[in-house]
Amino acid sequence: MHSSVLGPSAGGCRIWRYSRWQDGLEDALRLSAAMTAKFAAAGLARGGGKTVVAMPEGYELTPERKRGILHDVGDAVESLGGRYATAPDVGTSPQDMVVIGERTGHVFCKPAEYGGSGGSSLATAEGSVAALRAVAVRLNGGGGGGGGNGSSRELDDLSGLRVAVVGLGSVGARITALLSEAGADLVLSDIDASKKDLADGLGAQWHGDPHQALTADVDILVPAALGGVLTGEIVPDLRCRAIVGPANNQLAVPDVVDALHKRGIAWVPDYIASAGGVIHAITVELDKRSEDEAQQRVRGIEDTVAELLQSADTRGVTLAVVAEELVRSRLGAAADR
Ligand code: PHE
Repeated sequence: MHSSVLGPSAGGCRIWRYSRWQDGLEDALRLSAAMTAKFAAAGLARGGGKTVVAMPEGYELTPERKRGILHDVGDAVESLGGRYATAPDVGTSPQDMVVIGERTGHVFCKPAEYGGSGGSSLATAEGSVAALRAVAVRLNGGGGGGGGNGSSRELDDLSGLRVAVVGLGSVGARITALLSEAGADLVLSDIDASKKDLADGLGAQWHGDPHQALTADVDILVPAALGGVLTGEIVPDLRCRAIVGPANNQLAVPDVVDALHKRGIAWVPDYIASAGGVIHAITVELDKRSEDEAQQRVRGIEDTVAELLQSADTRGVTLAVVAEELVRSRLGAAADR
């Protein structure tokens, strides 16, 4: 649990392999801090938390073992008495939340037939595309005072925009589908070679090596896999104009933000671009609002990003600075009450 300033903490349960358990702990600490920022920036009354189950390299996760792990997670969550609620993340599904739910009620995103709001991947993808739209408008010279590149296409039109999506898991694949529908020109990559079929099916360019997709000559790069892809070493090789995607903790080290800024590459903080899932789950499960209202709130990420871009431009600072101020002011305002 990273913060309870805005409300009880929440965050997904990640089951992943780590060479040392301490790396899993470090991941949990960084991911839970990112959840605090995600909820605060989205204006949701929750604090950040996360669960990481660190499997040793080579550990074979059989279905029986997974059940046991999920029950242990459920017991641990229950022992916190509602101060933390869990949800799906890398390595867990809405169905897994049902198993956790056998031990605790503090769990989001169970399938609808079990009374939950279902998987959050689609909402997360829609939120990322909303953020991407705001950036595309800016790249096309819209949204107030931007430079512009003389493009003749509609200001909010994604058609013909070149986008690289790195990571085709449940969220990345859905972003890919939404962008393809909108007519974007796609470069796709995943460490799982079987995902090439998806690229072939869409007539997209495929890179089996994620590094090639990360450094592809595109308008927008979408990191949609694990964190840490934006390293100091990769920045000089990047050929995109902006980076906006749902992967949590994209920056390997914080000062990559400045390196990107110096290269004129706009970076939308991951905790803003990835908020669609939590916005959807909280709106439906806690606020008891309709699916339509949840979708509308998720699409609101476009306005949030447009406002942040505007304010960053006016002040000549990075989006990260403006976003962090927003987070701090919301946490500060709550702490002062
Ligand atoms: N994996 C989701 C995220 O990182 C976790 C989540 C979904 C938490 C829905 C709460 C509700 O944002």
